[in-house]
Amino acid sequence: MKSILFKILMVVLAVFIVLQFFGVDKTVPETEPSADFLNIHQPPENVESIFRSACYDCHSYETTYPWYSNIQPVAWWLQDHIDEGREEMNLSTWQNYTAEDADHYLEEMIEVVDEEEMPLPSYTWTHSEARLTDQQRDALTDWASELRTSKQ
Ligand code: HEC
Repeated sequence: MKSILFKILMVVLAVFIVLQFFGVDKTVPETEPSADFLNIHQPPENVESIFRSACYDCHSYETTYPWYSNIQPVAWWLQDHIDEGREEMNLSTWQNYTAEDADHYLEEMIEVVDEEEMPLPSYTWTHSEARLTDQQRDALTDWASELRTSKQ
């Protein structure tokens, strides 16, 4: 019995070690700072820091990877969220969106922050600075609403 458990453990360990050779691709394309959402719209500092600490890791090319992003299969799961987040809305290439799309994204940002859908709960477990207070959510959504009105 003991030796079977030992063998199973060895197999699991071997698989884990092999997985470590399949890291994720963290390279990002070069982008113009002038295409970046925050550079274009220049929100007040408190709002800018909310975007940076709660959204930019997944919705821009400016991702700060945690140490455990070097461990598979955790890294695959993280990178999946990042890829999906960027695909959904990329703040680093904001300039490429049409005025209509940009307005639609602002509307969605307000909605998902209001409803506490974003940042993703799995992200705030490990990023305490991204756990938004009611005031922070209001600051972000008020600013985004004003921006929408000023564009019309
Ligand atoms: C951990 C990564 C992560 C973080 C952090 C994050 N997002 Fe997301 N976001 C995603 C993913 C993945 C999706 C697509 C899947 C989904 O809608 O759940 C998404 C979708 C969205 C969408 C589209 C929603 C829709 O209904 O189509 C908006 C808008 C959005 N996020 C805004 C934000 C804002 C604003 C922040 C910061 C307050 C933020 N996100 C933080 C990963 C993230």
